[in-house]
Amino acid sequence: MYKTSEGTADGAGMGNIVFTGMMGTGKTAVGRYLAEQLKVPFYDLDELIEKESGLDIPAIFREQGEAAFRTLEREVVSRLSQVSGCIIATGGGTIVDPENLRRLREQGEIICLTASPERILERVAGLEHRPLLWHTDKLERIREVLRIRDPVYAQVGEPIDTTHMSIEEVAAQVLARVVPDEILKGCSWKR
Ligand code: S3P
Repeated sequence: MYKTSEGTADGAGMGNIVFTGMMGTGKTAVGRYLAEQLKVPFYDLDELIEKESGLDIPAIFREQGEAAFRTLEREVVSRLSQVSGCIIATGGGTIVDPENLRRLREQGEIICLTASPERILERVAGLEHRPLLWHTDKLERIREVLRIRDPVYAQVGEPIDTTHMSIEEVAAQVLARVVPDEILKGCSWKR
């Protein structure tokens, strides 16, 4: 059970819609938009990690290192696997951990978003809060991370390419793939 300021999300056996994919592909923006449309709670994993640790993501990486961040990420995923009827945006590296993938899959439909490296760079440009991109050649780094992660993301099915799409268009594609009332059914939140 995950407690938030809005209450407690509850309901074993029901599902979530979970977004995965590389940073800058629109997981948070689309997830938040869809949650508003469907009137269900939205959780952003990175935000939950920041709340629980009292540090922002760059500070966690800087002061404690990536391994500490991944431990926090696993803890939050474990707690989130108790919620249902929600939309969740994960971090770009969350499902690299097979245990995270298993937990998220158990209680939800996972949708992967992708985009071209150039578009990703445009979307994250100037945002120094992405520790994975603390490299001089950010475009090359994005290509490298994508190369490493592609097989991981491929595990959850064909990604939706958001390169040339608006948030609304991506949300429409998601709704063409999943039937929210079936996945989120029994949502304990008033719609
Ligand atoms: C990460 C992506 C980030 C955040 C952290 C690590 C990754 O989330 O979790 O910086 O490993 O790709 P976003 O994908 O939301 O930027």
